[in-house]
Amino acid sequence: MSTKLKILNVELGDKSYPVYIGRDLLLDKTYFEKHISGQQVMVVTNSTIEPLYLEKVKNLLGNFEVQVKILPDGEQYKTLETVNSIFDALLEEKFDRSATLIALGGGVIGDITGFVAASYLRGVDFIQIPTTLLSQVDSSVGGKTGVNHTLGKNMIGAFHQPRAVIIDLETLNTLPTGEFSAGMAEVIKYALLGNIDFLSDLEKNIDSIKRGLHQEDKELLIDAIYRSCADKAEIVSEDERESGVRRLLNLGHTFGHGIENVLGYGTYLHGEAVAIGMCMAARLSQLEGNLSAEDVDRIKSILSLAGLPCSIGKYNIVATQLYKAMSLDKKVIDGNIRLVLFLSLGNAYISQDYSEENLKQVLSEFCHS
Ligand SMILES: NC(=O)c1ccc[n+]([C@@H]2O[C@H](COP(=O)([O-])OP(=O)(O)OC[C@H]3O[C@@H](n4cnc5c(N)ncnc54)[C@H](O)[C@@H]3O)[C@@H](O)[C@H]2O)c1
Repeated sequence: MSTKLKILNVELGDKSYPVYIGRDLLLDKTYFEKHISGQQVMVVTNSTIEPLYLEKVKNLLGNFEVQVKILPDGEQYKTLETVNSIFDALLEEKFDRSATLIALGGGVIGDITGFVAASYLRGVDFIQIPTTLLSQVDSSVGGKTGVNHTLGKNMIGAFHQPRAVIIDLETLNTLPTGEFSAGMAEVIKYALLGNIDFLSDLEKNIDSIKRGLHQEDKELLIDAIYRSCADKAEIVSEDERESGVRRLLNLGHTFGHGIENVLGYGTYLHGEAVAIGMCMAARLSQLEGNLSAEDVDRIKSILSLAGLPCSIGKYNIVATQLYKAMSLDKKVIDGNIRLVLFLSLGNAYISQDYSEENLKQVLSEFCHS
């Protein structure tokens, strides 16, 4: 049975929903049953997660008519073609509007399943069971769903909030260490955005948090996930559709997307590219006179302790190429690159009026040529 259960509510009026965080939640059907209104349930997962957790989830759904859709594993399958294959399965099995979809997996599965739920029969319910740290602290909360297009990542999508998010810490036991570190980049992001106490706690506890991945004592890890989700929930409640404050969550992402775009997706994990991006945002904020050298070192240090890169490393990126890739990011308006920068440590803002020369200097410092 679950111990140390934490529950937080994402407040969105009649679309509000709980996020359950704890251990062994996949052994307790109460978290599921109260959020499934009809009889038809489809669990969507992938070939990596299936042998690990599908049976557990199916065991909880004995009172429902359950179908399973197993997708191949990988970002390259986050496409409209995959979405269509799920529509086919739902239609063949005559799923109606009372159906519930369950996303069992990382951010890729969550984004695809959420988008299918948003559009099948003009919208059905779905539940998120995120199994990577990144999806637990970021993608499963907030209702952004979607797939990639050949001309851009996450370009086709919808806002569709889940009925519940069920975060079972035990699923992290099988997560590769690199994927865990990538998720830590997003945890650190929340601390840097506006929660300096959280940053101090992470600095103090990072080793124990990392140990929580494989060992019994998961209390600090649960706490870090809870605080991250709480920060995200607060921002989403204020700005569901990303027209204002939610854009702060893009700290490090415009640089990171540029790096991923130039090097090809998969060279760095997304969280690793975001970590480098946060270091670049910190350095630009220093050149703008808002952060001290000590602040920048503090940011680099917590990212390194989490096992994340702070430089582009051995890869050869041309600064002008990175600049061009960043300009293609969808967060650009009127030709200016909109960036999340620091006013001070723990206090970020959205800026378009930084010095272009300073941005170019940062790019040349981080790129080899
Ligand atoms: N919707 C949003 O708000 C939002 C936010 C951030 C990221 N995203 C999206 O999330 C995706 C990245 O998510 P991700 O980092 O979770 O990647 P992912 O879903 O590809 O998972 C990473 C890898 O870990 C495997 N895996 C997942 N859980 C596991 C477990 N418990 N044990 C062992 N292996 C496991 C997966 O099969 C995969 O191979 C991207 O597509 C990104 O665009 C969405």
